Amino acid sequence: MTQPDGQNTTLDNLLSENRTFAPSSEFAAQANATAELYQQAEQDREGFWATQAARLHWDTEWNQVLDWSDAPFAKWFVGGKLNVAYNCVDRHVEAGNGDRVAIYWEGEPGDSRAITYNELQREVCKAANALSELGVGTGDRVAIYLPMLPEAVFSMLACARLGALHSVVFGGFSAEALRSRINDAEAKVVITCDGQYRRGKPMALKANVDEAVTATPSVEHVLVVQRTEQEVGWNSGHDKWWHDVVDRQSDQHTPEAFDSEHPLYILYTSGTTGKPKGILHTSGGYLTQAAYTHQAVFDLKPDSDVYWCTADIGWVTGHTYIVYGPLANGASQVIYEGTPNTPDEGRHWAIVQKYGVSLYYTAPTTIRTFMKWGSDIPAQYDLSSLRLLGTVGEPINPEAWMWYREHIGNGTAPIVDTWWQTETGAIMISPLPGVTAAKPGSAQQPLPGISAKVVDEEGNQVGNGQGGLLVLDKPWPAMLRGIWGDDQRFKETYWSKFAEQGFYFAGDGAKYDESGDIWLLGRVDDVMNVSGHRISTTEVESALVAHSTVAEAAVVGASDATTGQGIVAFVILRGGTGSEDSGDSATNALRDHVAHEIGPIAKPRQIMVVSELPKTRSGKIMRRLLRDVAENREVGDVSTLADSSVMDQISAGMKSGS
Ligand code: WTA
Repeated sequence: MTQPDGQNTTLDNLLSENRTFAPSSEFAAQANATAELYQQAEQDREGFWATQAARLHWDTEWNQVLDWSDAPFAKWFVGGKLNVAYNCVDRHVEAGNGDRVAIYWEGEPGDSRAITYNELQREVCKAANALSELGVGTGDRVAIYLPMLPEAVFSMLACARLGALHSVVFGGFSAEALRSRINDAEAKVVITCDGQYRRGKPMALKANVDEAVTATPSVEHVLVVQRTEQEVGWNSGHDKWWHDVVDRQSDQHTPEAFDSEHPLYILYTSGTTGKPKGILHTSGGYLTQAAYTHQAVFDLKPDSDVYWCTADIGWVTGHTYIVYGPLANGASQVIYEGTPNTPDEGRHWAIVQKYGVSLYYTAPTTIRTFMKWGSDIPAQYDLSSLRLLGTVGEPINPEAWMWYREHIGNGTAPIVDTWWQTETGAIMISPLPGVTAAKPGSAQQPLPGISAKVVDEEGNQVGNGQGGLLVLDKPWPAMLRGIWGDDQRFKETYWSKFAEQGFYFAGDGAKYDESGDIWLLGRVDDVMNVSGHRISTTEVESALVAHSTVAEAAVVGASDATTGQGIVAFVILRGGTGSEDSGDSATNALRDHVAHEIGPIAKPRQIMVVSELPKTRSGKIMRRLLRDVAENREVGDVSTLADSSVMDQISAGMKSGS
């Protein structure tokens, strides 16, 4: 394990940032969150979480808040029973809010649909009845491979209603990536659609499923939503149209109460090895923290706010802050199908104006893209409805933070920089709007009820002004309950580094500033963060070496002004590096190959053909040195290399090749 050494100048600048933005008195006066929350949680953590759990409807009350006796396997709200979908849908209808719009769905071509909680209830019931008819029962797994369509939300909630686990696979992943996820979870049903709109064009999606399910023995049915009406291949043995199976179902379905620890979903994320980890989340604790954080951090007022989280449903942000948090809180939210520049670069602001969006949550990489497009674009729209902005997924540079506040937030909106992970399930570190004086670039403090520390390699907390590794030193309700089918890997990955102290190791570097606020500094392991998406270096390396022309590969994440990091690969080709086969066509073929193996998001920005890779005497590739080359820095200490001249050759090749 290395110290955070991948920091670039942007991050260094971050640390000399000392502006603060106190909340306005008007905002503070109406804010959901108060400073007392910190004290309450401090005095009685479990009591605090018990209060938060009371946000939900429990069919059976729990009798113990936390059982940590089998650490690191937590049990929250022990003995309690609830139905997650009932909490997200039916209880709002029963409370008289059935006519409230749950989802303002906006299609990329301009079609739209407003779905009330009444309708959402009917749609979820029909989908649940359809899945039951297809043989899905409690504990079964359903893979959902859909773009941002309402049916994605209906499907997830239908699974939750039945006590089946969903495994949502991002629509940008390849057939290969989909297949390995289906097989790891042994999914019984796959839900997909014919195609999706991307930049104004229909693009096939089902074709990837057709390719994936040629070798997925567990799959019994493929349920296909019709979206683009394009031609699709059809396997009459297992393919079924959503409109044939779901539309004819009864819109009544009685939800069953499940144990608080009943599994809710699996979501795959990249780790430090080539094989993605199936992160497992359960019901009561997860929904409690999702609802609490969504209400406190976004200051949600369900009867007046219009909330919009721009994440894709295929990532954890889409799970917790499109589906479970907002719907548990009875929010009205926008879900947008397409890209931000279709038909033009003002699309997001046209949507904000159209629906009067008041709470907007996106990724720093998107903000930097908007900056590149220019502030004259948002200036053409009425954004006065926006009263709070959020960011997630990667550190935000102060410049982007300031631009966001100035040009999107009318110069006044509080910004919440929220740090969390697929594994944490919900927001862990963030300013509290109306309470915290915000600092551009810092996520600042653990939320009330959450405990996080920056420690050194020995697990000792570092002092103010010092950096180290981020750990979570107390269990939290939405924490992952394991890695699907691999308890050993769960313990090793997160709990072995600080086993003695019992800390969860997050994999992020962090630093305290002089007043004790936390600044996140990026991953310290072999995980890259490209446009807020986690991709492991080993995953891309495995894809590269699976190509017949590649003998060896090393991949690094190099800092990138827009995407945070960009993927740079160094490859040794088989049979030497004949110049005729190491040119553009060879590297383009490799980039396409990676897209085919993993998905377009994993395509290397740059591939360098080299004759050697820098290795230590024990054979470990020194990625730190390759990162120096990829970021055009002077190459660091090479004394531990088996052959120290290797770096000279690589640097020379990089210069002549670029
Ligand atoms: C990074 C996304 C800095 C971090 C919810 C973490 C952040 C990884 C922030 C998790 C933030 C997320 N500031 N870094 N506000 N939020 N990260 O699992 O490196 O896709 O470990 O979850 O994103 O990514 P994941």
